[in-house]
Amino acid sequence: MEYTLERARRYEAEALRDISKLNRPQYHLTPGVGWMNDPNGFSFYKGKFHLFYQYYPYDTNWGKMHWGHAVSSDLVKWDYLPAALAPDSTYDHEGCFSGGAITLKDGRQMLMYTGVSVTKDENGNDMTVQQQCVAFGDGIDYKKYEHNPVIETKDLPEGASKLDFRDPTVFERPDGDYGCIVGSCDADKDGQLLEFKSKDGINWNYVGCLLKCNGKLGRMWECPNYFSMQGKRVLVFSPQEIRNMEPEFCDGNQTVCITCDEPEGEFKPKTKQCLDYGTDFYAPQVLNMPDGSKVMIGWLQNWDALRHNEKNRMFYGTMSIPRSISFKGDRLVQEPVKAIEAYRKGETRLKFALDDDLSRNERIKGRNFDMTVEVSPEEGETRYSEFSIGLAEGGGCVTLLVYDPEKKTLTIDRSKDGTERERFNERSCVLYGDRGDGNLKLRILSDGYTLEVFVNDGVNVLSAVVGTDVSAEGIYFGAAGKAKVETVFYNM
Ligand code: FRU
Repeated sequence: MEYTLERARRYEAEALRDISKLNRPQYHLTPGVGWMNDPNGFSFYKGKFHLFYQYYPYDTNWGKMHWGHAVSSDLVKWDYLPAALAPDSTYDHEGCFSGGAITLKDGRQMLMYTGVSVTKDENGNDMTVQQQCVAFGDGIDYKKYEHNPVIETKDLPEGASKLDFRDPTVFERPDGDYGCIVGSCDADKDGQLLEFKSKDGINWNYVGCLLKCNGKLGRMWECPNYFSMQGKRVLVFSPQEIRNMEPEFCDGNQTVCITCDEPEGEFKPKTKQCLDYGTDFYAPQVLNMPDGSKVMIGWLQNWDALRHNEKNRMFYGTMSIPRSISFKGDRLVQEPVKAIEAYRKGETRLKFALDDDLSRNERIKGRNFDMTVEVSPEEGETRYSEFSIGLAEGGGCVTLLVYDPEKKTLTIDRSKDGTERERFNERSCVLYGDRGDGNLKLRILSDGYTLEVFVNDGVNVLSAVVGTDVSAEGIYFGAAGKAKVETVFYNM
C-alpha cells in the first residue's frame, strides 16, 4: 500500500463524516479515526495549542506511523486538522515516529521526527535504521526538508544503536541555538540520551551524552523531554523494560522524571520519580505554556497493557487529561488543567459516615465525571484499616481503588472489569508524604473507559483504562472500621 499524505487526508475526511460522536470520551482527545499512540509536537503556535500524535488512520491497530493533528484554545476541546505527516519518503517509508515542534525565528513551525527506513548493512543484508528528520509549516501544512535526514546514523557516537535512535525533543538553548535530545541505547542495550545542537535546525552537531543508565534504569529510553522549572533542570522520559530496580518502579515500560539542581554543565541526577503508578500512561510530552508554566500530556495506554476493549469503535487510543506540573520541594506534582472545570455539569456535595459497611448514593454514578473524595478517621476512634471505592460497577464488574493507611498504599485493581483476557490488572504505590493517620484526598477523573486518580493534590497519580461496558455506572464507598467521607461530584 502506498502511503501519501493526500490519501490519509482524504480517508480521514471521509471517515469523520460517518463516525458518530457517541461512545467517545467527553473531555479527552481520541483520534478522529484509526489508531493513536504518543503525543507529538505539543506546542503553542499562532495563538493555539497544537497536538500532533502517532497515528495510523486505516486501522485500529498500530501501523506505518503518520502524524495526526489537532488544535485547541483551552487544551480540553480539540478540533481535528488534516494529518500532518505521512511515511511517503525513502528515509521514513517505515514510519514517521515521535518527535517535537518549535517555532523558528522566521515564524515557521518546525516539526522534528524520527524517520524509520530499511537500508542495507555492509554485508548487503536488510537493516532498519532510525534517523532524525524535519518538516516546516504554517500550522496546517508541513513540507519535509528535501535533504532529510538531518541527524543520521553516521552522526552517532561509538557503540550507539542505529535501530534504537528516536523521538527527538527540540528546544531553544540558553545560548540562542537550537538544542535537541534523542533517545538511544548503547552497545550493552542500556538507555541513554544524546544531545545535539544547531544554528538553523538543519545542520546539527553532536554535543555529548546527557545521561545514561549503566544498567540501572531499563533499556531503550523513549520520548525524552528536557526543560528547566523552578530552578531545576528536568528530564522526563519513558524507559522500556525496567526490571525490579527499586520500589519506586515496577517492571516494564513507564515514565520517569529525573532532576538536577545545577543550572548547567554535567547533568547530575538528584531525584528520580515515577510519574504515574497506574497501568496506562506513557510517552508524555511537556509543553512550555505562554506564561512559562508547564503542562504535560501522555498517551493513556501502555505497550505492556495494550488491549482492544473498545469494541465496535472506529478509533483506538486516548490522550490523558493535560496536567499542570510543578515542584513542591523536590516532588513533581500534577493536577488536571484548570480549564476542565468549565466542562462540569451540576454539583453534588455529600458528607457521610462509614462503619464497616458500603455506601452509595443515587446522585453519584456515571462514567464521565470529575469527583473529589476526602476521607478521614472518625474523631476519637481508632483509625479505619481500609478504605475503598468501587467504580464502573455493574453487570458483575467493578474496578477498585483500595487505600491501606497502615501500609500507606493505594492500589488500583481492574481484575474484575469484564475483559476476557488475562493482562496485568493491579498496581500499587506507597503514597508520598502520607502520615499514616488515615487522611486521604483523591481527585478521580473518569471519561468512559479511562480513569485518572490524583492523590493528595497530585503527589502521586495512577491512570488506567478499564474495559467495562459504559452502561456499568455504579460507584460505591466502603471502609473496614469507622471513617468519615466528603465528596464533591460533577458530571462531565
Ligand atoms: C513510544 C514509541 C516511540 C516511537 C513510537 C512509535 O510509545 O515506541 O519510541 O517513536 O512509539 O509509534
